[in-house]
Amino acid sequence: MSQASDKHAHDFSDRSRYDALMEVVRNRMTVRAFDPGYAVPREHYELILDAARHGPSGANAQPWHFIVVTEQDLKDRIMEYFREEQVARAKLRMKFPTPDYRGLASAPGFIVIASDFRWVKAFPVLNDGSELDRMYKENAERILLQSVAAATMSAHLAAAALGYNVWWVTAIGQEQAQKAMKPLLGIPDELSVLDIMCFGPPARQPYKRWKKSLGEIVSWNRFDRAHYMTDAQIDEWVATTRHKVMYKDAGNVD
Ligand SMILES: Cc1cc2nc3c(=O)[nH]c(=O)nc-3n(C[C@H](O)[C@H](O)[C@H](O)COP(=O)(O)O)c2cc1C
Repeated sequence: MSQASDKHAHDFSDRSRYDALMEVVRNRMTVRAFDPGYAVPREHYELILDAARHGPSGANAQPWHFIVVTEQDLKDRIMEYFREEQVARAKLRMKFPTPDYRGLASAPGFIVIASDFRWVKAFPVLNDGSELDRMYKENAERILLQSVAAATMSAHLAAAALGYNVWWVTAIGQEQAQKAMKPLLGIPDELSVLDIMCFGPPARQPYKRWKKSLGEIVSWNRFDRAHYMTDAQIDEWVATTRHKVMYKDAGNVD
């Protein structure tokens, strides 16, 4: 054990490291447009991905792969898929407030996060095609997604700790977008692109978004029914509140 960890081993009253961590956690803020003139030093990519590397994962499978995209042409072409998705959503009348995805091309830091769903085999599954197996496989997919999200979050916090703003983009999960994007980055068919992590200095002053209070999200020992929301209440939230808490900077609502 190192001296530093010895010193803190049983001192649970020392809040200094928590406070330092919370400073980073609280100030991790999403922006959707960056200063394109800034170049991320290679060392920063490595520091950020080193944080991801230490993430926890089901069965310690570490089912993630990170593709650092530095070529502007690739960023531009990926951004185009998002624009197409935006147009498709507008046509489908999905009514999901869509940000201006042109901001993707402005991101100095750009990491595509992929995973291989064959890793579900590493988690508790029967592999016999039974109904029970289907249920275990469903949970195994959740284990995989949570694992990649855990590593991704570490990367986002590391980027925030280095002073960057971040953008977690998942709007590319659909099959057509995957098909279009994978060849561009040489990603094998077996892998899926789960999200894109953008980071860099912001184009405009970032702002802190609304967060639920602790009282709203926590129950002790048993689920407090006061927190239960009916379908109608959730529909009401989606209709009246969602767009206000997602972004002030939404270019259009479709
Ligand atoms: C799993 C996940 C998926 C997200 N997907 C998108 C996305 O596709 N497009 C987008 O503009 N923002 C996306 N975001 C960013 C959220 O909109 C943002 O985190 C949220 O509004 C809270 O703001 P904050 O990050 O500043 O706290 C995503 C965030 C998470 C964690």
